[in-house]
This record gives sequence, structure tokens and C-alpha cells, in this order.
Amino acid sequence: MAILLRIDSSSRLEGSFSRRLGDEVAKRLNADRTILRDLVTDPVPHIDAAAISAFFSAPSGNSENERVATALSDQLLGEIMAADDIIITTPMCIFRPIVTIHFGRT
Ligand SMILES: Cc1cc2nc3c(=O)[nH]c(=O)nc-3n(C[C@H](O)[C@H](O)[C@H](O)COP(=O)(O)O)c2cc1C
Repeated sequence: MAILLRIDSSSRLEGSFSRRLGDEVAKRLNADRTILRDLVTDPVPHIDAAAISAFFSAPSGNSENERVATALSDQLLGEIMAADDIIITTPMCIFRPIVTIHFGRT
């Protein structure tokens, strides 16, 4: 079963060229299952201090706060690991991908 992870980032939910291109590529890949991560309708928050602390300690020693803080990160990594193909759509904005796509935010 082929799994596609698709990450969209254009603020334009209507009329977006990058989203339209993503639609075309997804159609050609014809995956059995698509995991859609829309960074505009469902933004990924910045890493906070509890998450950073948890990243540098053994999971067994994590506090409840640290476990909650890393849950989303674990979920996002799981989506990447599960995917056979990944489509990332992004507008160019001042010679680079738009800021919502920067993985420093995950
Ligand atoms: C503030 C701003 C900066 C942009 N900078 C670039 C750029 O550096 N290079 C480029 O090719 N296009 C640039 N564009 C054009 C966008 O990438 C283009 O409009 C694209 O279609 C936006 O993606 P979307 O249609 O998926 O929303 C810029 C657009 C805006 C509004």
C-alpha cells in the first residue's frame, strides 16, 4: 500500500498555483492513502522549551509536560517515516520557500 504525505503551505486556499501543482503530482502518484498536512489551516507551533528539554533526555525520564510537548513532533516524524512519497508545495517568497514551510517550526 503506497502512502503519500502531502504538505501544503500557501496561504491562498483558493487560486493557489502551488496547491494546484500538488494536485497534479498527487494525481499522477495515485497513492492508496494520502496524509494531508496543511500548514495554513492546521499550523505547526514553534518548538517550546519543554520539547527541547525532552529531545535531550531519555523518554523514560520525561515529565508529563515533556511528553505532551513532544507528542506532535513524534506524530510528524511518524508521518514522514510512513510515507513512500512526499509532496511539499510552497510558494516562492523573496527567493526562498514561504516561512510556514521552514521545518524549524516543527
Ligand atoms: C511578497 C512576495 C514575494 C515573492 N517572491 C518571489 C520570489 O522570490 N520568487 C518567485 O519566483 N516568486 C515570488 N513570488 C511569487 C509567488 O511565488 C507566486 O505568486 C506564487 O504563485 C504564490 O504561490 P501560490 O499561488 O501557491 O499562493 C512572490 C510573491 C509575493 C506576494
